[in-house]
This record gives sequence, structure tokens and C-alpha cells, in this order.
Amino acid sequence: MSITLKDVTYCYNQGTAMEVYALKNVSLFIPDGQFIGLIGHTGSGKSTLIQHLNGLVRATSGEIYYNDQNIYDENFSMKTLRSKVGLVFQYPEHQLFEVDVFTDVCFGPKNLGLPREEIEKRAEESLTQVGLDQSYYKKSPFELSGG
Ligand SMILES: Nc1ncnc2c1ncn2[C@@H]1O[C@H](COP(=O)(O)OP(=O)(O)O)[C@@H](O)[C@H]1O
Ligand SMILES: [Mg+2]
Repeated sequence: MSITLKDVTYCYNQGTAMEVYALKNVSLFIPDGQFIGLIGHTGSGKSTLIQHLNGLVRATSGEIYYNDQNIYDENFSMKTLRSKVGLVFQYPEHQLFEVDVFTDVCFGPKNLGLPREEIEKRAEESLTQVGLDQSYYKKSPFELSGG
């Protein structure tokens, strides 16, 4: 997967007294398989930029390409994009909301509209991959450490 940003500008509260340009003409290319770190002062626009990558916010101007497909094209599927570009938020406890660990991990695949059997299979595979023992599956996510 590659991601390209071309001249992306984002303005909060455009046309009001509270107008703030969080991004101005940002161009960026992330090739397939590359890990990148984005560094900047608080308020420099890191979070705003990241939220563009899966279409959570829409650029005020500029273009974004996922594998050379313009994500703002009318027939581009944001659902497909979101099944490939995942965001992990800064405070994990703000995104945990299900009654137990297993159900919480099921949330992603559930939103892809998969059948129940496949949802549970994927959740189990993922939890096994990170080495989480089955004894934690029915615990509240808040009983785990933040990390
Ligand atoms: N919801 C919002 N409404 C208005 N301005 C915002 C909002 N979120 C962020 N900003 C402003 O956009 C700029 C970039 O913020 P942000 O993307 O959160 O930066 P970072 O993640 O690098 O700290 C800052 O000036 C911030 O005050
Ligand atoms: Mg931030």
C-alpha cells in the first residue's frame, strides 16, 4: 500500500472568526512497506494530518491517493480505505468501550460487515498474535494495563 498527499490544506472552522489553518500545502509520499515517524510541536498538525489518511476529515483543498486512487473520487470506497488504513488513537482507554476484551477486538471486523464466525476467528487470531491469553478474553478492557 502506498499513500500520497498532494498540496493538502485543512482549515478548521473556515469562514468564521475561529478559522485555523492546521495544514498548509502538505505533500508527502509514503511508499509500500515503509515505516515513518511524524514529529512536530504540539499543535503543528500531526493529528489533523493522520485523520486525513482514512478519510475521517476531508481536506479543504488538495488530493490524497491510496495506491494511486484518489480517495475523493466519487466512486472511491471509503469503506475499503478504512478496512486498510487503521488508526490507533493517542489514549487507548478512549477507544475501549465494549464489555470485554474479546468483544472489543470484534468491533473492527464487525464493522466490516463480516459473518459472526469470521469476526470471532479474526479476533482470536489477532489476540493470539499479540500473545494475549484466553483467560483475559472475558475481562473488562480496563483491567488490562494501558500499554
Ligand atoms: N477541533 C478543532 N477545532 C479547531 N481547531 C483545531 C481542532 N483540532 C485542532 N485544531 C488546531 O489545529 C492545529 C493543529 O492541531 P493538531 O492537528 O491537533 O496538532 P498536533 O496533533 O500536532 O498536536 C492547532 O492549531 C490546533 O489548535
Ligand atoms: Mg496530536
